[in-house]
Amino acid sequence: MDLLNSLLNFVVPPASLVMLAFAWPTLCFLHACEWFFRTIYREDMDGKVVVITGASSGIGEQIAYEYARRRVNLVLVARRENRLWAIRENARLLGAKQVLVMAADVVKEEDCRRFIGDAVNFFGHLDHLVNTASLGHTFFFEEATDTTVFPHLMDINFWGNVYPTYVALPYLRRSRGRLVVNASVESWLPLPKMSLYAAAKAALINFYETLRFEVKDDIGITIATHGWVGSDMIGGRFLLEEGAEMQWKEEREVSFTGGQVEEFAKSMVAGACRGDAYVKFPSWYDIFQLYRVFAPDVLSWTFRLLFTMPSARKTSMVGVGRPAVESAPARRPLPAPASFSPASPPQQSPPQKVD
Ligand SMILES: NC(=O)c1ccc[n+]([C@@H]2O[C@H](COP(=O)([O-])OP(=O)(O)OC[C@H]3O[C@@H](n4cnc5c(N)ncnc54)[C@H](OP(=O)(O)O)[C@@H]3O)[C@@H](O)[C@H]2O)c1
Repeated sequence: MDLLNSLLNFVVPPASLVMLAFAWPTLCFLHACEWFFRTIYREDMDGKVVVITGASSGIGEQIAYEYARRRVNLVLVARRENRLWAIRENARLLGAKQVLVMAADVVKEEDCRRFIGDAVNFFGHLDHLVNTASLGHTFFFEEATDTTVFPHLMDINFWGNVYPTYVALPYLRRSRGRLVVNASVESWLPLPKMSLYAAAKAALINFYETLRFEVKDDIGITIATHGWVGSDMIGGRFLLEEGAEMQWKEEREVSFTGGQVEEFAKSMVAGACRGDAYVKFPSWYDIFQLYRVFAPDVLSWTFRLLFTMPSARKTSMVGVGRPAVESAPARRPLPAPASFSPASPPQQSPPQKVD
């Protein structure tokens, strides 16, 4: 066996490289044709039903607006209900047909059963489930002072995707719908100070890649592996439960640049409607895949250089229970009609069963 493996170690890599060199142009051509075809015959979303978790800020909010422009029925899910009401109004102005607001915690299975069940009862079907709920962090693992935050990070970033997906699968299968997943470039390019987040995102990728095989063509899966695009994510505020929040102080010592949240949301929803398996934003990050395979040392030296400079270690995590700060209204609200006030939620009729 050892001899066989030694032989294969010697033969398989160069033989594969030669084979790839010949197959690559053909594959690129086929992918381009496929992309062109799917762009022309992309999914018409008019009147379809889209549930978005983590819709109260950042990427989730902008994804809601992108779907709204496609005249869908929306179900907005997050824990901060007051923000969802303002986003609902913006989505209606942008063209969404009906918008339901549902306060729920995605790490609680019963909450997921409630919001998916209510959405299906109200609209009669479910077409896209967009999982955006997440919690980021930036602290050196060994400097964490409160280990109780560890399972919360894994719960929100991993189980917070798995539960809604599990509950939604039968309905998505029925409508031949789509799962849209917000992973991150961290899933394959882990950065220092984001150990638990990167671990959860890597787990997410493997979970959805496995699911892709299991659901075959009945349910589409679009996975976004985007880089830093901004938003509230690293604000360091972790709403633990009503009335208290876990908070850590953090400052980004490496300034990241990247596209805008709006631009990313646009490409993500376009990719989902086109039926893309992956949305990469920005796509030049892909070049690091080559470094990972052929020159991992270069990446490792770069990260060490960036993260071990004296100024890089000036922050640490403080895990403390604190009174929750009143959450701000939705980011950059769109011009609303004179009668609209985000402070007073408009009346939403309770979800009614559709016959
Ligand atoms: N921003 C980036 O640069 C970036 C880069 C790569 C990947 N991503 C990924 O993209 C996604 C969106 O990121 P973002 O920057 O938009 O994050 P964000 O602004 O922090 O939004 C996170 C959302 O998740 C919701 N949420 C958190 N815990 C929840 C829970 N237990 N139950 C229900 N909702 C919960 C939050 O709403 P409530 O607090 O109201 O519940 C909020 O709406 C995430 O999956 C993130 O990992 C972001």
